[in-house]
Amino acid sequence: MSVIPHAGSGKITVPDILSRKSHRLSAFSEKPQKITCITAYDYPTARLLDDAGVDILLVGDTLGMVVLGYDSTLPVTVDDMVHHTRAVRRGTRRALVVTDMPYGSFHVSPDESVRNAVRLVKEGGAEAVKVEGGERRIELIARLVEAEIPVMGHVGLTPQSVNALGGFHVQGKTLDAARQVERDARAVEAAGAFAVVLESMPRELAARITERLHIPSIGIGAGPECDGQVLVFHDLVGYATEHKPKFVRQYASLSAEISRAASEYCEDVRSGRFPSDAESYHSAAELRERTPVRERTESK
Ligand code: KIV
Repeated sequence: MSVIPHAGSGKITVPDILSRKSHRLSAFSEKPQKITCITAYDYPTARLLDDAGVDILLVGDTLGMVVLGYDSTLPVTVDDMVHHTRAVRRGTRRALVVTDMPYGSFHVSPDESVRNAVRLVKEGGAEAVKVEGGERRIELIARLVEAEIPVMGHVGLTPQSVNALGGFHVQGKTLDAARQVERDARAVEAAGAFAVVLESMPRELAARITERLHIPSIGIGAGPECDGQVLVFHDLVGYATEHKPKFVRQYASLSAEISRAASEYCEDVRSGRFPSDAESYHSAAELRERTPVRERTESK
């Protein structure tokens, strides 16, 4: 599928996302629409979300937890991200596809980091990459931007730091911690990122950062003042997630629907109600006379 953006095609591009920064326009013009972002990891989900008009499909490294069954995002590899980005890209026509750089893919050397990001773009079809971390990522973000790879930053709770942080906790709750989160967001912007995810922080802090940045903020557990919102697909549709964080609004209950469908199927197969005659293929009429169904069954 050709998805190279061209003017007027409706395809969402990095400049489109930048133009959705709320205070970029004058006080007299209309506020831009909030940016919508949902994670996606496969082709059918990408198609549905894209058709629904989601602006950004994020191939997040939450892949490791909600799809691959790990208990953190740390084991996810660049190969995993390339594989799933390809599937998402095949299902996407309009949305911007952004892929997470997984843990370990940008921690060894700048050259290796750029090589890994290039793989996500060249082999996976990502249109931008997301990098966790603030001040410590200034050089990396600048190198990626120099290599023509748009970067989305990610500050506040950065799940790849789970061991260093001692768990998945709300960030920026003390004055010092809040100042650090703000410095991180500003650093990401100064390094050339086109947007930044603000994860798990007090609403007031996210509002203040959003007000001060010139790039859009995309919040998750960061209150309503952000320029956009992101949720993990499985949380949003209630699909096999055990823990529901406070900030999640669940719009469907897929787990219950899938369990019900699978149990009914098992019952129908065991009781002989599935498949029915209408769900079976039939021989041509003349053959059917020679091999009636009962005879064929009995001869087995
Ligand atoms: O990996 C991911 O899905 C993310 C979102 C939670 C923002 O980083």
